[in-house]
Parts: sequence; C-alpha cells; structure tokens
Amino acid sequence: MRLAKFLAHAGVASRRAAEAIVREGRVAVAGEIVTDPARDVDGSEPVTVDGAPVAIADQRVVWMVHKPRGVVSTAKDTHGRPTVVAMVDEPGKRLYPVGRLDADTTGLILLTDDGDLANRLTHPRYEVPKTYVAHVGAFVDERELRRLREGVELEDGRTAPAQVRQLEVGVLQLTIHEGRKRQVRRMCAEIGHPVTELRRVAFGPLRLGDLGEGRVRRLSPAEVQRLRDAAAPPARAPG
Ligand code: URA
Repeated sequence: MRLAKFLAHAGVASRRAAEAIVREGRVAVAGEIVTDPARDVDGSEPVTVDGAPVAIADQRVVWMVHKPRGVVSTAKDTHGRPTVVAMVDEPGKRLYPVGRLDADTTGLILLTDDGDLANRLTHPRYEVPKTYVAHVGAFVDERELRRLREGVELEDGRTAPAQVRQLEVGVLQLTIHEGRKRQVRRMCAEIGHPVTELRRVAFGPLRLGDLGEGRVRRLSPAEVQRLRDAAAPPARAPG
C-alpha cells in the first residue's frame, strides 16, 4: 500500500496531511528517510514519523493453510477429529475458517480473525473464484467438459458457468464462483466422472504455490490487501 495511505490507516494524519508529512522528510522506512508518499510499503518494514514507530493498530491476521485429508475445516469437531484451526499457532487470536473444504479434500483454506472479511469472501455476491484440481480417473470428452462449463443441473439447482480444463487425461482444473456443499464432487459425478481426489489450489487472488501439505503461513499485509480488494463492495455509480 502507498506510504501515505499506510500512515492514514495508522491514524497519523489524514491521507493528504500524511502526504505532506512524507514530503517534509519526517518519515523513515526501514531507517531511510522517504519523501515519496507513493512509496509502496507492505507493513513488514519498520516505519517511523519523527523517529517514533508507527504501526497499523489492531491488525487483523489471515493465514493460509494447506489442509491435509482427514482434517476438518470447522472451528470445532464433535467427533474429535483434527481441525484446521488447531494447525495454526496464533496466540491471543480467535481464528475462523473462511468457508469449508470437505474432510477428504486437500488444499488451500484461509483462517482469519476478521469476521467481516470472512463473510464477504464467502458471500455469493462477491463471486470470489476458487480453483480446484479434481482427479476423475478417466478421459473426459469435450461434450462432458462443455456441460461442466455451461452448468449442470444439481438437486439444489443449476450451477453457474465454470472454467474447466483437462490438465491431463482424467485430471480437471475447475474454477467456480459458488460455494455449494460438495459442489465440485457433485458436478463431476453428474457428468459421470466421480472425483477420486480433490485439491483446492487457488482462492481469489491467492495461490497455494509451493506451500506443502500440512504447512501454514501468515499472509503478508499486501496479500491481505489483495484479498480485501477481491471482496470489496462494488463502487457505487455516481449520482
Ligand atoms: N467442492 C467439493 O466438492 N468439495 C470441497 O471441499 C470443495 C468444493
């Protein structure tokens, strides 16, 4: 985020006054005086104004978890199974999963203490895309792929159009914007290709990347900002 915006968020001054403070040479980033209010900062480097440290108060946290099979994505499990929440050590914060993955699905799930962000990221209105890699074991022909792309009739209604590619024989990559229960499994079963293995590889602007199964990492402030942007209320038309 821009330095002036960072200072405004931290309560130092209004955005415009913060720009002036920066231009006056009173602000240092990582020990160096910065006079460009547009300088990008991601919260990882110390920022000072007149030598005094500045931080964005009450910073909410978001963690990325690579969920293994058998771990449940609810905050608590009545059957005593391991939970994604227990995989993250963040003392003093109450973390909630953003949406759900089935116990037998692996891959990217986010945890946050920002309830408002979690709600927006899972609300159908914001249509945050989620990408999955589904192993279905056999070649899926063009007609079947088209059905997935155009929407298939499920017991809770027709699915919205999806982006679907066959990465290799019997392995599909699907990007969907909805978050219905067991949606990918039901879509694939409906076209006659039950899923044998399912992994979520992307959520909105975030990719699982090389985060190994069972590993967790805290998102950088810049990544959290990209997530917020992905679930931002649409700008209102003027007038
Ligand atoms: N679709 C599914 O079928 N399962 C998941 O866990 C997520 C999406």
